[in-house]
Amino acid sequence: MQTSDRAKFNSKIGMVLATAGSAIGLGNIWRFPVMTGDNGGAAFIFMYILCVLILGIPLMTAEFIVGRHAHANTAQAFRKLTNGWLWRKIGKFGIITAWFILCYYIVVSGWTLDYLVDALFNRFNALAATGNADAYAHHFQNFVSDPYLPVIYMILFMLMSHFVIVRGVKKGIEKSSKILMPILFIIMVLLMISSLLTAGASEGLRFLFYPDFSKITVSTVLGAMGQAFYSLSVAMGCICTYASYFSKDVKLVNTAFKVAGIDTMIAIMSGVIIFPAVFSVGITPDAGPSLVFIALPNVFQQAFGNIPAMGYLVSVLFYGLLVLATLTSVISLQEVVTAYLSEEFALSRAKAAGIVTVVCVFVGSLCALSMGPLKDFTIGGRNLFDFFDFFSGQIMLPIGGFLIALFVGWFMRRRVIWEQLTNQSSIPGRGIRTIIVLLKFFVPFLILLIFLSGIGFFQLFS
Ligand code: PHE
Repeated sequence: MQTSDRAKFNSKIGMVLATAGSAIGLGNIWRFPVMTGDNGGAAFIFMYILCVLILGIPLMTAEFIVGRHAHANTAQAFRKLTNGWLWRKIGKFGIITAWFILCYYIVVSGWTLDYLVDALFNRFNALAATGNADAYAHHFQNFVSDPYLPVIYMILFMLMSHFVIVRGVKKGIEKSSKILMPILFIIMVLLMISSLLTAGASEGLRFLFYPDFSKITVSTVLGAMGQAFYSLSVAMGCICTYASYFSKDVKLVNTAFKVAGIDTMIAIMSGVIIFPAVFSVGITPDAGPSLVFIALPNVFQQAFGNIPAMGYLVSVLFYGLLVLATLTSVISLQEVVTAYLSEEFALSRAKAAGIVTVVCVFVGSLCALSMGPLKDFTIGGRNLFDFFDFFSGQIMLPIGGFLIALFVGWFMRRRVIWEQLTNQSSIPGRGIRTIIVLLKFFVPFLILLIFLSGIGFFQLFS
């Protein structure tokens, strides 16, 4: 496809919603509350916001610059900008990272769909009626170890994303974001109100908003950095790909602040939904990754125990919310690879998206079954699902982010950066120097720290 007839987002609001849609996902509604719970609440949130400001926003801006300047898929974008052997590879590396993330992310996406169906059929109520506190954990275990169900739901989810992608950037990605994101926001507000009506409201809010700085440790800081990265969809080409569809007059720094602001607000709102309800039934907030799929269905039944219809409604809304948030993120991951395949190999959009769907269904199925029939197949002691999660999140994302920051901070032509951030000198270039300094020094250094801690480097010394 030629640069000139390349698709663009139609409106500013559509552009912001689509980019926010990529950022808002399981990272906000599932991972953020889990990390907050595990790391002592408000002190973690404080560190997280700091990380978004000094790490996330500069990196997002860097990807915006590369993407909009090049008007091409991520692999081509970096090749267009430099002759440096290493830097030319950043884009392709991002695309491989997107594949890796997609293949396990889609598995959890399938779980969200299954839980929405469970909620709709009021199955959580039936679990509550057994009176057995372990019923929810058994339910989850039975589901993830089933030989068919996780695969079926994963395929259904991938197909939803597929059909949005084949409709194109404007009619597919932008339009779906304009419909789904407002619904997501309304559901969040409704859920927040109902959670604040539970008995644990004040305790939940205290946990979220009163920082106890004695709880901050090195691992809290590193966890907050990794989370900021993941939640903003940076370091792997998603943001760069979407920016290639931005029009000339989009203000990049301003958009980075908007998207990061919306993403952080949604994460905190998820905390406001989850913790009051959790405290109201006396579950400890550090329940870990099982929080959303084991603790919460139980919490929703109990927190509104005297009004069963409320328990039903809140469960349906919550899992519906998860499906929506996850879908817009899956779409953005699929788009990274689809744009690459269709532009590099001159394939139609439908064909390129089809290839991504088929490969992801295949690899995703192996991941989906890795908690059941394939649980004995491990790589480095991890089942396939955990391996894809670990390898993409702890190894590939930090490497990608590190290289992007170094490239834009040190090697990209300054003129291109200024042109992109001032829209060819039509808006003031406030804050550009700060962003460049952050990209040159702070971001690579902090990423190196996350990386080393992720691979257990610091444990060697303790
Ligand atoms: N940001 C998404 C989330 O918070 C995850 C994601 C990462 C999506 C990378 C796209 C690319 O869930």
